[in-house]
Amino acid sequence: MILLTGATGKTGSETAKALAKRGVKARALVRDAAKAQVLQAAGLELAVGDVADTDSVRRALAGVERLLILLPNSQRQVELEQQLVDLAKAAGVRHVVKMSSMEAVASASTPIPQGHWAVEEYIRASGMAWTMVKPNFFMQNFLASAKSIKENHSFSLPMGDGRTAMADARDIGAVAAEVLAGRGHEGRSYEITGPELLSFHDVAARFSEVLGARIAYVPADPAAYLGILKRVLNEWHANAVSQLFREIAEGPAPHVTDTFRRLLGREPIPLAQFIRDHIAAFR
Ligand SMILES: NC(=O)c1ccc[n+]([C@@H]2O[C@H](COP(=O)([O-])OP(=O)(O)OC[C@H]3O[C@@H](n4cnc5c(N)ncnc54)[C@H](OP(=O)(O)O)[C@@H]3O)[C@@H](O)[C@H]2O)c1
Repeated sequence: MILLTGATGKTGSETAKALAKRGVKARALVRDAAKAQVLQAAGLELAVGDVADTDSVRRALAGVERLLILLPNSQRQVELEQQLVDLAKAAGVRHVVKMSSMEAVASASTPIPQGHWAVEEYIRASGMAWTMVKPNFFMQNFLASAKSIKENHSFSLPMGDGRTAMADARDIGAVAAEVLAGRGHEGRSYEITGPELLSFHDVAARFSEVLGARIAYVPADPAAYLGILKRVLNEWHANAVSQLFREIAEGPAPHVTDTFRRLLGREPIPLAQFIRDHIAAFR
């Protein structure tokens, strides 16, 4: 049995869909069964609980051989993910798959990638088999700018002239599903990007082409943007996201990888396709 955490989120839901499409049996640990009805309809088994509640995690882990660790960024992410590793080991899980990030390296200097790296190291020391799924910036992040793109024909982010090799969450989920259901992925770290290295000016050009109207990228002042983040996120999270964005703005730019093509045997989704597939949100 495979257990997914984070299965109602952006990449976890795509992992669940990809597993269901492959006809693979899986269980999802979810906080809200109503929110997870679509997963149940796709054939997943639900275990209702919270990763912070060790009893519910122990129940969800019964009979599980492979576990996807996927949690949102928070001050407690490292502690909760390491606790999941300990509970998985005690429950006899053989293979842990971690949703990490491409920026998570030993020399990472900002809190979110540092946290991912700390959990990666903890998993590698656990004695269980492991695979790290390390995506670049999600295309789905632009859905947070959809209202502005639709109403003002512009979006504003503090990325300056920075570039990323953004990936679609559908492709990231497909890789996670392959790692969980396929063979030969133990001991591997997979850096996942989309097909192109793009600046945010390039992103605006892609939106303009697909939407048939000029969409402008307005580089935001990092300090002013931090103020905006603080209105919607707590202090730790706002500062952590702001530092991550500064890293993207100041580079170095990541490299485009061929991981997706090697593992799935098809091309990753380009940004123009992502925009077309979400056109109602942007136009
Ligand atoms: N965004 C990017 O560009 C990017 C790039 C690389 C890596 N990443 C990494 O990807 C991860 C986030 O992935 P995502 O965007 O797919 O996640 P997401 O959409 O934010 O979803 C988070 C998931 O975790 C679940 N969850 C949260 N707290 C929980 C708890 N206490 N117990 C059980 N479930 C809980 C949520 O359930 P509910 O539905 O109940 O809230 C939801 O299913 C982060 O670790 C991030 O660092 C992101």
